[in-house]
Amino acid sequence: MSETEVITAPRPLLLGDGRPAGRAWSLDPDLRHLNHGSFGAVPLVAQERQELLRAEMERSPVVWFPALPQRIAGARVELAEFLRVDAGDLALVPNASAGASVVYAALTLRPGAEIVVTDHGYGAVTMGAERLARRWGGRVRTARVPLDADQDEAYEAVARELGDATGLVVVDQITSATARRLPVERIGAEARRHGIPVLVDAAHAPGLLAAPLADATYDFWTGNLHKWGCAPRGTAALVARGPLRDLLYPLIDSWAAGEPFPDRFDQQGTVDATAYLAAPTSLAFVESAWGWPAARRYMDDLADYGAHVIGGALAELTGVDCAVDLGMPVPGMRLVRLPDGLAADRIEADALRDRVAGELGVEAAFTSFDGVGYLRLSAHVYNTAADYEYFAEECVPVLGAWARENSGKRSAQ
Ligand SMILES: Cc1ncc(COP(=O)(O)O)c(C=O)c1O
Repeated sequence: MSETEVITAPRPLLLGDGRPAGRAWSLDPDLRHLNHGSFGAVPLVAQERQELLRAEMERSPVVWFPALPQRIAGARVELAEFLRVDAGDLALVPNASAGASVVYAALTLRPGAEIVVTDHGYGAVTMGAERLARRWGGRVRTARVPLDADQDEAYEAVARELGDATGLVVVDQITSATARRLPVERIGAEARRHGIPVLVDAAHAPGLLAAPLADATYDFWTGNLHKWGCAPRGTAALVARGPLRDLLYPLIDSWAAGEPFPDRFDQQGTVDATAYLAAPTSLAFVESAWGWPAARRYMDDLADYGAHVIGGALAELTGVDCAVDLGMPVPGMRLVRLPDGLAADRIEADALRDRVAGELGVEAAFTSFDGVGYLRLSAHVYNTAADYEYFAEECVPVLGAWARENSGKRSAQ
């Protein structure tokens, strides 16, 4: 951004009846919700749809459960259309973590093989990779990708870790702690040239990216519909197109185990699958209220504005530029650098999240990367400029005081 560029707030989105968009959600009006990205938020209309489905299940379980696989297959068709993939390539799993676990459980033993991850990887998914590497008697190799790496640098950083010993690459399409993209298409193509399977952790991609699987050449991709897609929680996609997909089985052994991928994922013993069935309602709601392209534009413009006002307030307080160059930014998410003394590691970042929620009434995400703390903004359609202005005016001075307190304590130690 040039110094003269003016960042203005987008006009708040409204519902068809003129009420603010946020009225379509049940978020507590006494809190500020600046962290859609971590756990999503479900619009009332989808909550109601899920409640109706639950009531139907409770009225007649013996009719409900035998018919369930067919209904899940029907939901798959709608969700696949949203992601612009073939429903025959998409299995439903409860979350992106489960998608990764399915892949880890499927891969055949490669004694001594290495798993390449990046230092931006989601901790829990990387822990799964470490466990698999231990099973193989191999190890995890971590590609270091600088925060501001552009597409070429990020690609090179991962590509140079690939070799004869590599048994799997796990790479994020949109990273969690650093809210940036990685060039998964190029990494996937390079791995394919070496015959190495690739798992793309795309937990944040559905809803944020219009066609997250366009140009995909990787074997496995998993993404949450319960984040940016606002689906009821416990709804994620696992897309697999190559021959390795025949190895994929759901984590729960069930009666459809003899069916091909992805049909065998449509039956998972006796589980409450109403989230899967209600997920299309969330997608359709945003589409009919504003259209996904306009919703995405709004989220991106608002995240820009939020980073500008909060970054500006922090810079004024500390005298340090808080803008962050992410190399490959994503729509709707931004990082703002926190003052020294805050969120230097994940434990501190989580503690700060809890303190800000408890003492300041703001749900926010704090992350850390390379020992530096960040506020991660993720704006959805129910957010407005006032959310970020409030944070800048009310929370930034408090964060400044907490940072000084922590730095004082550290230097006294
Ligand atoms: C990159 C990434 N991977 C995986 C996950 C895990 O998602 P879930 O808890 O829905 O499995 C997240 C959650 O934030 C994430 O950001």
